[in-house]
Amino acid sequence: MQKLLPRLVWVAAGLFAATASLHAQAAKKQLKVGFAQTGAESAWRTANSESMKSEAAKRGIDLKFSDGQGKQENQIRAVRSFITQGVDAIVIAPIVETGWDPVLRDAKRAKIPVILTDRTIKTEDESLFACFIGSDFYEEGRMAADWLAKKTSGKGRIVELQGTPGSAPANERRKAFGDAIAKYPGLKIIDSQSGNFERSTGKVVMEALLKKHGRTIEIVYAHNDDMALGAIQAIEAAGLKPGKDIIIVSIDAIKEAVQAVVDGKINCTVECNPLFGPKVYDTIAKLVAGEKVPKKAFNKDELFDSTNAAAVIAKRQY
Ligand code: AHR
Repeated sequence: MQKLLPRLVWVAAGLFAATASLHAQAAKKQLKVGFAQTGAESAWRTANSESMKSEAAKRGIDLKFSDGQGKQENQIRAVRSFITQGVDAIVIAPIVETGWDPVLRDAKRAKIPVILTDRTIKTEDESLFACFIGSDFYEEGRMAADWLAKKTSGKGRIVELQGTPGSAPANERRKAFGDAIAKYPGLKIIDSQSGNFERSTGKVVMEALLKKHGRTIEIVYAHNDDMALGAIQAIEAAGLKPGKDIIIVSIDAIKEAVQAVVDGKINCTVECNPLFGPKVYDTIAKLVAGEKVPKKAFNKDELFDSTNAAAVIAKRQY
């Protein structure tokens, strides 16, 4: 017995070390994450993809990136392929709000957590996704409208350039803006068309609006900066001064738009921060470790106009 005891202690210590090493290996296991991105419609989107890719590389995460090229069916196909590949987590920036339940049910059945980023969805069953990380689009629309009402003393004829039809930012920015200006009978939306969040389409739509309404347009409310920058090209081509002859209010606060505020061509841009790669991967690490995460986490966004744009321009990261 005297001889057996040290041997037993030795065996137990060995077992303990082996278990500890297995745990360490599991903790170190390279995470495989699938990301179904909407596409590359705007400078905001490019910055968002870059944030997701560079942060994955920094953390040694195996990121399977799929560009949906503006089509929901491509995103759904990508999610199904992520499920087949057995990824640890799936991230989706849903191009539109509806039509996600079937594929989310498949992910749930495969026990793969789904993180919605940037855009929300409409579903009866919120258990189909683990959490949402992004901006509060309704709040952005409200901020834009309140700024405009103050600037114009509640008066002006507005044309609205909407984002992608059916998308959460287009729906919520439109609704919030409409709700807020309803308090000012002198502020009127005289026309509203989609520019699909793209600069080139924003330009074409603005050209058509200028042809239709001429000098009666006093304000442009664009759901994103790319469309506002496209509209500026059309306004200048028509011999008008953006920011002076026509007030321009926009959303995203990409560096180029903040510079346009400094230059007096955009009057106000509300921030929508796309750099949430770190937040997404922190959340995935928690989910994989079985920890709880908040169901909805909103980024805090600011507003830039002539009073503060020059002070921040050098530090804008996107
Ligand atoms: O969903 C966020 C929106 O999508 C951004 O405002 C826009 O620029 C992008 O394409």
